[in-house]
Amino acid sequence: MKQKLEEIRNAAHTTLADALSLDALEEARIKFLGKKGELTAVLKGMGKLSAEERPKIGALANEIRSAIENEIESKKAEIASKLEEIKLKAEVLDVTMPGRAKKTGEIHPLTKVMNNIKETFIGMGFEIADGPEVEYDYYNFEALNIPKNHPARDTQDTFYVSDNIVLRTQTSGMQVRVMEKQKPPIRIIAPGKVYRSDAVDATHSPVFHQIEGLVVDKGVTMADLKGTLEMFIHRLYGDQTKVRFRPHHFPFTEPSAELDISCFKCGGKGCPVCKGEGWIEILGCGMVHPKVLSNCGIDPEIYSGFAFGIGLERIAMGKYDINDLRLFFENDLRFLSQF
Ligand code: DAH
Repeated sequence: MKQKLEEIRNAAHTTLADALSLDALEEARIKFLGKKGELTAVLKGMGKLSAEERPKIGALANEIRSAIENEIESKKAEIASKLEEIKLKAEVLDVTMPGRAKKTGEIHPLTKVMNNIKETFIGMGFEIADGPEVEYDYYNFEALNIPKNHPARDTQDTFYVSDNIVLRTQTSGMQVRVMEKQKPPIRIIAPGKVYRSDAVDATHSPVFHQIEGLVVDKGVTMADLKGTLEMFIHRLYGDQTKVRFRPHHFPFTEPSAELDISCFKCGGKGCPVCKGEGWIEILGCGMVHPKVLSNCGIDPEIYSGFAFGIGLERIAMGKYDINDLRLFFENDLRFLSQF
């Protein structure tokens, strides 16, 4: 019996030494120490022993039981720490690694210039007016002194939605919309998209942006127009920029002018950007035509005003030295993230 017990001790030792998992340990515990285990089987046979031998075998059996129990416990700890080690290795976290930068979006260059222009005019006491891009022929043309068959319509290739509805070709219709609703003093800018049936090339797009401006009050003169627009240009391009007003014709202003600035590239000497002229055309402007005022129920004998229309893309191209309009609309991040 003693020999049997020693065999169990050795067998248990080998089994436990080979055990690689907690499950294997539990299996071994049941095999050797469980109710139906080998050690229990031996103890059950103790009744057959002599009174002299029984305590010795009993003591030996207890010693072996606790030896096996101890071995199971220490093996358990060993396996647990191995498992922990494997887990830690799998979860390696190198806190010295540089973080992954989150890519945030950027403001589109057209939006940047638009915001800049808006801020400048808001700073001069202007309010922002907003109106529809799908517009009545009346606001886009008729009320602006551009009747049907007027040659000015030819220069603005129009998308017609129906006989009397168009995609607005200019923001100037907003002058009429504002004057119909609001009595002077009026000081607004109306930024937004406009549409013309132009083929796409480096300087043309069927959709682009304008910023309309309108000031109406008693005693508004050409001097106010010049002062306001000069201030605007200096804010946008710097004080060194020269401004000139060149006579022009628009049906809804009288007198009318185009505003040129000294070339931002060459300073006025003449270069490819200004086509050797030294000047670059920036916007159209003029004193609001008396007919337009009366079309809106404002008495031209009492009130006068000035208006202007700025092309946003042209300004942005000049400011950022961009030579192809299409870049604004192609959404190529390599281009857009440069501003
Ligand atoms: N609407 C004109 C255009 O698209 C620009 C313009 C010229 C607007 C003179 C004005 C103005 O308000 O007074 O070409």
